[in-house]
Amino acid sequence: MKSVIPVQLPQQSYEVVIAPDSLAQVGQWLQPLKLGKKVLVVSNPMIFRRYGESVLTSLTAAGFQVSSCLLPPGERYKTLSSIQKIYDVALTERLERSSTILALGGGVVGDMAGFAAATWLRGIRFVQVPTSLLAMVDASIGGKTGVNHPQGKNLIGAFHQPRLVLIDPQVLTTLPAREFRAGMAEVIKYGVIRDAVLFDALEAAKRLDQQRYVPIELLQEILTRSCQAKADVVSQDEKEAGLRAILNYGHTIGHAVESLTGYRRVNHGEAVAIGMVAAGQIAVALQMWDQTSADRQTQLIQKAGLPIQIPSGLDSEAMIVALQSDKKVLDGRVRFILPTQIGQVEITDQVDAALLRAVLPSMMDT
Ligand code: GLY
Repeated sequence: MKSVIPVQLPQQSYEVVIAPDSLAQVGQWLQPLKLGKKVLVVSNPMIFRRYGESVLTSLTAAGFQVSSCLLPPGERYKTLSSIQKIYDVALTERLERSSTILALGGGVVGDMAGFAAATWLRGIRFVQVPTSLLAMVDASIGGKTGVNHPQGKNLIGAFHQPRLVLIDPQVLTTLPAREFRAGMAEVIKYGVIRDAVLFDALEAAKRLDQQRYVPIELLQEILTRSCQAKADVVSQDEKEAGLRAILNYGHTIGHAVESLTGYRRVNHGEAVAIGMVAAGQIAVALQMWDQTSADRQTQLIQKAGLPIQIPSGLDSEAMIVALQSDKKVLDGRVRFILPTQIGQVEITDQVDAALLRAVLPSMMDT
């Protein structure tokens, strides 16, 4: 059971490979890519303890000269000082233009390793081996790399596409269930924005809240369809000039929830889940979407064990202010991605504060 999904880009196309047990064969997957001899593996201590040895063994057996750099886990370490640590190892190991940085980990590791690869010697090669569901279906594909500024998430970054994204679904068996659910929010997102067949498959599943209840065939289908959706969008709009913005479905309100809860109470996937429910209600209020479809979305989000209400204590006025400072604001107007049917969305700037004041209070957890 293997899926190979091309990401077709003008400068440099690459493949997303989804293959069970591929992590331990990463060296063989890298061989045909004609990379240089040196590979620097960037990871965090927990992931590296679990998978580092088999990745290093495989790379060495394939003839690569391997080094590693471990960074502390968590969004709060996604900073320029962590990038400095990668540069220090790159310098010690004398990485060259033909050398590769390989990200082994979740979205935080991938974003930082990618940014270091984008900037070291003005850009060296980069490979993604994502280990979380969220990184597999979203962050590892499409070349967005970067770090946070104390004043905001992902404010410093670069587009730098990987040469390969290698996904081993077996890795998900060790992922904490809450992180699995966070990734599931992005999977549901693809169902709503682009793939009604995926949405139906998710609806038909018995349970989605823990990986052990998701049969391996369904997991492969979920990964394949999600990565395909992301690859299609990125292939059409690499630098987010238009279409790629649809990937931000649920993220507009989601980011406001994340930032107002200090990035601690809810994780990214949970915030996106709440944001999708809000976007659904806004779309219904604008008569762009029918209530039945919005209810189906809410039920699916609940089935995945994700929240559907704005956390208690948050104030809708504060949320409206937070929305104004989002990266998605264009010429002072907040852009929303709203569904028109399952599998289709539209980008609009027609959501005003009065509409938000009508919808948000009804979503507050009391
Ligand atoms: N995660 C949104 C994007 O890659 O564009």
